Amino acid sequence: MRKLLILGLLLIFGQAGVVQKIEAQKRGARRTVAVQKEIQSGVASGKAGKTAAQKADSVLALMTLREKIGQMNQFSGIEYNTGPWQKDTSLFRQLSSGELGSILNVSGAEKTRYYQEAAMRSRMRIPIMIGLDVIHGMKTIFPIPLAEAASFDLEAIRRSAACAAEEAAACGVHWTFAPMADVGRDARWGRVMEGAGEDPYYGALVAAARVKGFQGDDLSAPNTVLACAKHFAGYGASQAGRDYNNVDMSMCEFYNFYLPPYKAAAEAGAGTFMNAFNDLNCVPCTGNEFLLRKILKGDWNFGGFVVSDWCSVAEMIQHRYAKDAKDAARLAVTAGCDMDMVSRCYVSSLEELVKEGVVDEKLIDDAVRRILIKKFELGLFDDPYRYCNQEREKNVPLRADIRQAAREGARKSIVLLKNEHEALPFTSKVKSVALIGPLNRSKSDMLGSWCAEGRPDPVVTVEEGLKARGLKVRYSEGYDLKTNEPVNTADAVAAARECDIVVVAVGERGGDSGEARSRGRLDLPDAQQELVRALKATGKPVVTLVMGGRPLIFNDIRETSDAILMCWWLGTEAGNAIADVLAGDYNPSGKLPMTFPAHIAQIPIYYNYKSTGRPYIPGSPYTTGYTDIPFEPAYPFGYGLSYTTFAYSDLQVEEDMFRIGEPVKVTVTVTNTGDRAGEEVVQLYLRDEFASITRPVRELKGFRKIMLESGESQQVTFTLTPAELGFYNTALKWTVEPGDFTVMVGGGDSEKRLQAGFRMTD
Ligand code: NOJ
Repeated sequence: MRKLLILGLLLIFGQAGVVQKIEAQKRGARRTVAVQKEIQSGVASGKAGKTAAQKADSVLALMTLREKIGQMNQFSGIEYNTGPWQKDTSLFRQLSSGELGSILNVSGAEKTRYYQEAAMRSRMRIPIMIGLDVIHGMKTIFPIPLAEAASFDLEAIRRSAACAAEEAAACGVHWTFAPMADVGRDARWGRVMEGAGEDPYYGALVAAARVKGFQGDDLSAPNTVLACAKHFAGYGASQAGRDYNNVDMSMCEFYNFYLPPYKAAAEAGAGTFMNAFNDLNCVPCTGNEFLLRKILKGDWNFGGFVVSDWCSVAEMIQHRYAKDAKDAARLAVTAGCDMDMVSRCYVSSLEELVKEGVVDEKLIDDAVRRILIKKFELGLFDDPYRYCNQEREKNVPLRADIRQAAREGARKSIVLLKNEHEALPFTSKVKSVALIGPLNRSKSDMLGSWCAEGRPDPVVTVEEGLKARGLKVRYSEGYDLKTNEPVNTADAVAAARECDIVVVAVGERGGDSGEARSRGRLDLPDAQQELVRALKATGKPVVTLVMGGRPLIFNDIRETSDAILMCWWLGTEAGNAIADVLAGDYNPSGKLPMTFPAHIAQIPIYYNYKSTGRPYIPGSPYTTGYTDIPFEPAYPFGYGLSYTTFAYSDLQVEEDMFRIGEPVKVTVTVTNTGDRAGEEVVQLYLRDEFASITRPVRELKGFRKIMLESGESQQVTFTLTPAELGFYNTALKWTVEPGDFTVMVGGGDSEKRLQAGFRMTD
């Protein structure tokens, strides 16, 4: 009897529990419907004039603390990309329970729809943002960014980013982790391939062009993606060129040489920024309040959000800056890092930190608001599936006009380093080419590092490019790409003897530059240098194609080759572009965006070094230099030849004296003195002769890329404003000081610069 009573009670209470659960679910469902209605009405009223910020606020007001923290959490789907893709229930569960605001390393209309559907099951139905490293193309691969920078063609650079964005958006991606705005002065650091080289002025223009290319004018358009300027800040100065290493520099150096490209990216409207792995001023960048709150969100009024780098929140523990994961979360969120990439410190600790009163919920609200604004701007609240369009995914990637843009971009990126005995371009007498070296046949290496969804199949090799022009090609391997041992040198030499001209490709491998690819040796392997020497001994003209993702050292080849083309990694259209240049259908116009050292021990070596108390004087012992290696680089920044020649004359500064604030007009006449049309990059450098801080020997402060027919002249005008004439002083304030300035103007042939002077007065 007693047992029956207990059973009855259990049943009643048990059922009551179930009933309670059902009621709670109903209430939840009603609330979800109400929330959705509110969001939709927010969106609808947004259409009637509400800003993305107002819409974000209305969504934020409905969110629980846990849901807010979920928005600040990003996780990777990478494990499902490396093999056949499988539906992952854990990621799916996290998304459907609102624990994630973003995922990365997922693409494809179908896959991204699957994950978006999961997010749509969450109570708030906030769409996720999908990010990927689309660095130099999505499926059509463009030249690596360092190569593109050699074009000194900002429109081509913008267009390349726009093509990458269109393909990425067609494949379900909303957000690219580019551009990399890190100034790179150290070729040992493998990531120089991702940036615009060593110059802050040019780097700033390139960063802005890339941001504009990715984002276009309208983030919600189906052919644009959100950009992410990275790695904030100073990552390019990792000590000893070792990736992930620390950075130590004066703030004056940082402001004048490293900050400008990031600032330009912010001013160009980059929607997001990414933290750097390194520390700066003894504080890891991810927890660096000075960088994130003072400079970025304060001085620059940046309205987007900041994402950490991969696990960089948790890595503050290894930096011995954070005690544990909870402490790392506190430090990062307080500093202004809004989204945690992969480390899960936010999702595991922030709720507790807020409840304990250690972290103010206002910081969380600010971060989430920033993230939601971008989701609204991308149009994801209007239609979470707007980027999951299989039709577009089929038609956009590798479209003919995108491939054509890649080919044009690739031709413009090639730098002619040497051209003697009229080796290039091929004359009509050249009917057969001895094509030596495995890189001439390699498809995968042409893609370089960070090639997103680029695949070797569509890549045009040098061999294919030359054959497509009807040239007879006799191929010989010459050396092994993996072991760098010689391979049948006799056959390579025989090929050279049989043909009219030799084209030999040397260099590193496509994957040798990039993240975690720091190298202590940049000389080309002996086998490659000896091969070129053997080919030269045949008496045939030798054209060397140097391929790599960074400045390399090849002193022997500089001597033995008749012509040298720096070909970097040029992407899907590499072979066509190289053939265009060899055959003279395109006259090379690229200039080096980074100094090429003559010896590894010169690194870091860069053109805008500062004057010392004992400037280098050749042969004079007590001046800055080396006793055993040269002081001068192999090729300086801005260097690059053409198949034609240019003469500079009549450099004039409008007045001798200017008041601070007045524009300084500089004119120069450039004449094409050769017998074919060509493009020249007219470069203006400035030297501040005396200042309150030590200043560089010269700094690029203007350039124009002009096309001149044979015999044609053009007057080029530059206007220097306080933006070009000033610098950050020791108080980190932008200032233009009175005094003398020297202006130097010239082109790719650095020996021929004209000089003039002027004075600034108060
Ligand atoms: C680490 C790299 O430093 C960063 O540049 C990249 O965007 C992330 N991984 C995501 O892949």
